[in-house]
Amino acid sequence: MKSTSDARARVAVLAILTLVVGCRQRMADQPAPRPLTPSQFFADGQASRPLVEGAVARGDLNEDEALYSGKAGGQFVEEFPIAVNRAMLDRGRERFDIYCSPCHDKVGEGKGVVVQRGFPQPPSFHTQRLRDARPGYVYDVISKGFGRMPAYGPQIPVADRWAIVSYLRALQRSQNATLDDVPAAEKTALLEGPKPGAVEEAGHGAAHGDHR
Ligand code: HEC
Repeated sequence: MKSTSDARARVAVLAILTLVVGCRQRMADQPAPRPLTPSQFFADGQASRPLVEGAVARGDLNEDEALYSGKAGGQFVEEFPIAVNRAMLDRGRERFDIYCSPCHDKVGEGKGVVVQRGFPQPPSFHTQRLRDARPGYVYDVISKGFGRMPAYGPQIPVADRWAIVSYLRALQRSQNATLDDVPAAEKTALLEGPKPGAVEEAGHGAAHGDHR
């Protein structure tokens, strides 16, 4: 009795196995063309399919025209499309020093190390024309490049580009500042000169250096 049921069980298992193997069929062997290979299946002979018109990749909708292109209604924006604050300026300074100062130098006069080694010299940022340039224009120059300057859009994310523009504005103000731009509290300190303590500190440091 027991041996018959054993035999039956074995047959059942075999049958199931055969079916399961049979089920693998060709599902695993479907044509899986590699990108840019030819194909006889599609009329245009290409395996890769063109994007459906109007398709937008995730995270690439870029609906905010002013933010992404620096333009509104075909004109460069006069206002920053995002709020400018201290953190943004700090970030802009850091990014400027990394990406722009090699050519434009840290003050923006256009005498960076790359220029000293023969790259065409950019104009100073402190000319009236560039001081009057709209933020949207500067954003556009960074994004797409300008003349002999390469485009930095592919390397610098949108928010960082605006941060750089804000810092460039700060740089421009710094080089054209008058005493009236200095806050009252700082003005007194500036007019009185360095505090005696600060001088002593510096003197001490120098004396220290002499001993070495
Ligand atoms: C590889 C060197 C190089 C780097 C890096 C560089 N620039 Fe320039 N930039 C130039 C040159 C050269 C010009 C002048 C191009 C010309 O007139 O053909 C220029 C011009 C400009 C102008 C003036 C455009 C005008 O209307 O005259 C702005 C603004 C500017 N750059 C901003 C930036 C900013 C911001 C960065 C950093 C994100 C940057 N550049 C990085 C080389 C560089």
